[in-house]
Amino acid sequence: MNDLEKYFYKNTGRQISKWKHYFEIYDRHFSQYRGTDVHVLEFGVSQGGSLQMWKEYFGPNCKIYGVDINPHCMTFEDDQIKIFIGDQEDRQFLHSVAEEIPRIDILIDDGGHTMKQLICTYEEMFKYIDKDGIYLAEDLHTCYWPYWSGGYKKRGTFLEYSKNFIDSINAWHSRSFRLKVSDFTRTVYSLHFYDSILVIEKRERDQPSEFQSGISTIPEYVPIENFRMKLNRKLRIIKNIFTKKEDS
Ligand SMILES: C[S@@+](CC[C@H](N)C(=O)[O-])C[C@H]1O[C@@H](n2cnc3c(N)ncnc32)[C@H](O)[C@@H]1O
Repeated sequence: MNDLEKYFYKNTGRQISKWKHYFEIYDRHFSQYRGTDVHVLEFGVSQGGSLQMWKEYFGPNCKIYGVDINPHCMTFEDDQIKIFIGDQEDRQFLHSVAEEIPRIDILIDDGGHTMKQLICTYEEMFKYIDKDGIYLAEDLHTCYWPYWSGGYKKRGTFLEYSKNFIDSINAWHSRSFRLKVSDFTRTVYSLHFYDSILVIEKRERDQPSEFQSGISTIPEYVPIENFRMKLNRKLRIIKNIFTKKEDS
């Protein structure tokens, strides 16, 4: 059991609401920040228990920020904990939050979990996360639940939306004009899809390059298909040259 899990099961203070398997995922991505002056922003305050848990886990130098639509959540402000009241679907409000926080190392989206809320929060806030920071959205099972406007392979769910991130992170290798290198390609190091959770680790990246080391001693196996493709391409080029000459 990691420290977060221990804290959760011993908790007699403010209520925390988390799925059991999340603790291993949090610890896997967040433990590197323990004891530092990490700035954590969590959407969804509810009873204030998770903010207390983060404060305990990250230590005396961390700064925890919570966002919730419920004005009663303001009562959960505390040492090292600041609360913002507003709607995570309100893009102006999101910008105003980002402007008040000096830095975001970790963003956790545990807010209302509707598709609009998830997409809006990602679209507006991702750029504000530090270049080496982490984005984590949880409870993504709502992407399958009609009440939250989810559904299997349904267009517009956050999971369908985020499946495109897999293409974006690989865009350096694209041969299609429809998939181009973007800020996402240049600033995202890895994507982690778990049950109900997506973690995005940011890190600046250059165009990837391949190298060989050591000595090659046997002829390489080249599939016959590659020969055929190359031959066909050459034949097409020759044919085009001759057709153009005949035209002129
Ligand atoms: C799942 S609870 C958060 C649980 C909390 N993080 C915890 O671990 O104990 C979701 C919270 O999101 C808030 N919420 C719902 N819709 C919202 C919206 N549009 N903008 C901001 N917060 C919202 C709710 O008021 C509720 O407190």
